Amino acid sequence: MIGAQQYRTHSCVGAAEAVGQTVRIAGWVHRRRDHGGVLFIDVRDRSGVLQLVIHPESAALLADAQRLSPEDVITAEGTLVPRDPATVNERIPTGAVELRVAELTVLAEAAPLPFSVEDEHTQAGEELRLTYRYLDIRRTTRLRALELRGRVVKAIRGILEAEDFLEVETPMLTRSTPEGARDFLVPSRLQQGAFYALPQSPQLFKQLLMVGGIERYYQVVRCFRDEDLRADRQPEFTQVDIEASFVTPEDIQQLIEDILVAAWAQADIALPTPFPRMTYAEAMRRYGSDRPDVRFDCEIVDWSDAAAASGLGVFGNVVAAGGVVRAVVFPGAGAALSRKDLDGLVQEAQELGAKGLVWAVPGSDDALRASVKSEFLGGLVDHLGANEGDLIALVADTEHATQRVLGAVRTRWAERFGLIPEGTWAPLWVVDFPLVEFNENENRWDALHHPFTAPRPEDLGILDSDPGAVIAQAYDVVMNGLELGGGSIRIHRMDIQKRVFGIIGLDAEQAQERFGFLLRALELGAPPHGGVALGLDRLVMQLAGERSIRDVIAFPKTATGSDPLTGAPAAVDAPQLAELGIRSLVPASDAARDGN
Ligand code: AMO
Repeated sequence: MIGAQQYRTHSCVGAAEAVGQTVRIAGWVHRRRDHGGVLFIDVRDRSGVLQLVIHPESAALLADAQRLSPEDVITAEGTLVPRDPATVNERIPTGAVELRVAELTVLAEAAPLPFSVEDEHTQAGEELRLTYRYLDIRRTTRLRALELRGRVVKAIRGILEAEDFLEVETPMLTRSTPEGARDFLVPSRLQQGAFYALPQSPQLFKQLLMVGGIERYYQVVRCFRDEDLRADRQPEFTQVDIEASFVTPEDIQQLIEDILVAAWAQADIALPTPFPRMTYAEAMRRYGSDRPDVRFDCEIVDWSDAAAASGLGVFGNVVAAGGVVRAVVFPGAGAALSRKDLDGLVQEAQELGAKGLVWAVPGSDDALRASVKSEFLGGLVDHLGANEGDLIALVADTEHATQRVLGAVRTRWAERFGLIPEGTWAPLWVVDFPLVEFNENENRWDALHHPFTAPRPEDLGILDSDPGAVIAQAYDVVMNGLELGGGSIRIHRMDIQKRVFGIIGLDAEQAQERFGFLLRALELGAPPHGGVALGLDRLVMQLAGERSIRDVIAFPKTATGSDPLTGAPAAVDAPQLAELGIRSLVPASDAARDGN
């Protein structure tokens, strides 16, 4: 073991194997208990906790030990002995032994801590914990999450290396790669007025590596996206980025299944394989989402025709205007809900974008408690196969709005009402995405993934005449409703790439200006190729049972993109900006308010 001899011969947990031997350990004072002269000190290192015992007969030692404060760093040597059977602690791996201390040295003293690092006692808010992230990381849950992350990366590398994938690094100072977010820009000092962009992903470089004959590339790589942050989004995050030549979507999907099975095995979970596949159209129709959580049903059911004839004005009007009326049933969820609870659900749906929501709860003997007169809902209960006590949620709107609202309501309420089975894993491939989607605001087509995604060969004929109907060779891998990764077969022909650029509104000159290097590469012998990227932070978050990717990143940013530990982002002084040819429009005193 590195560091053996001077500081330690064993880790705290490793020492438990050395009963009867002289052992030296090093770590942090976790807890101290004084039992009538006998002093017990729990020492913690990365492996866990070991109990040290100091008996009153060694007076000098006892005096030293009594001066210890929580989180002092010490090294101690002594004999590892079994505990008195009455004091054995079955809950920890070292619970049957203790170290009878003969020598103890304080390596560093700790001032009083701003918060407890014991998991069960930490009530500190996130801002404080991030300010002292190095203390937060001492907590066992945080430590275990980072260890899991390390093991997962190692397992993934193992699979990729065994399949002959070569890890190649790509630049961080580069040009914009369109992945749909804003770029982080880095000003150039040598070419004032010009900027690098930090990569949103290595997409173009990995494609160029395929043109370069690398054939199988991977990289565990940091990506940067300046977008609004959520629990599953950080401005810098890590992808397991993969690209291969001469492959089909199925080859890439099989590789990802192998990778995810190996990753989940790190948490002793056997994932079900093969992962089922669902088309984008089906996912949107049944679940109102392109990343459906298929651990539970509560599918969206159409009731438009009957609703139009129901006599309720709003239903009739919506259907007459080309809209739809659709429902989701939440089994058993309605029985316990009061009128006030139900009104609250309506309000929540409105906050999610619904114009309104009609609820109904079947009672006994065909009675129906509902937010509208029950005669307007004739036949609904039978149509849906709903039972007494179920909660029925109905939304009437355009198809797009209805599906979006019911999709969001479905996952939220299923969780709230306990309808999602615990401990189940539902991986899913979502396939057959449209190539482009219409952007109403900008009045143009946008790439649904990125503009290098290949259309299905059979759709090439309608690429220009009906772009909205073209299906892409793209796939996303979803786990329990979380998008873990996505990829596609790429366009490897210059002429097709040019046509796709044209569809998304780049004229020949713009395409040449921004992506001329790619177009040129595609002219010079580009193999058919495709790939995928997994969001490593999301994957580990899910595996660790955490709710935010911040919990599995050593030094994450807050929701405002700041790091309370270092104070980044921070203002820089005028001379430094001048050197870059930049002048700030924001007075220095107003800059980086969150960072300080
Ligand atoms: P995409 O943009 O889908 O694809 O990203 C791949 C995966 O990265 C994760 N991810 C994020 N994780 C945390 N914070 C973020 N801000 C964030 N944004 C994305 C998600 C997502 O599924 N170049 C393509 C891949 C390819 O086509 O091969 C790409 O980047 O888990």
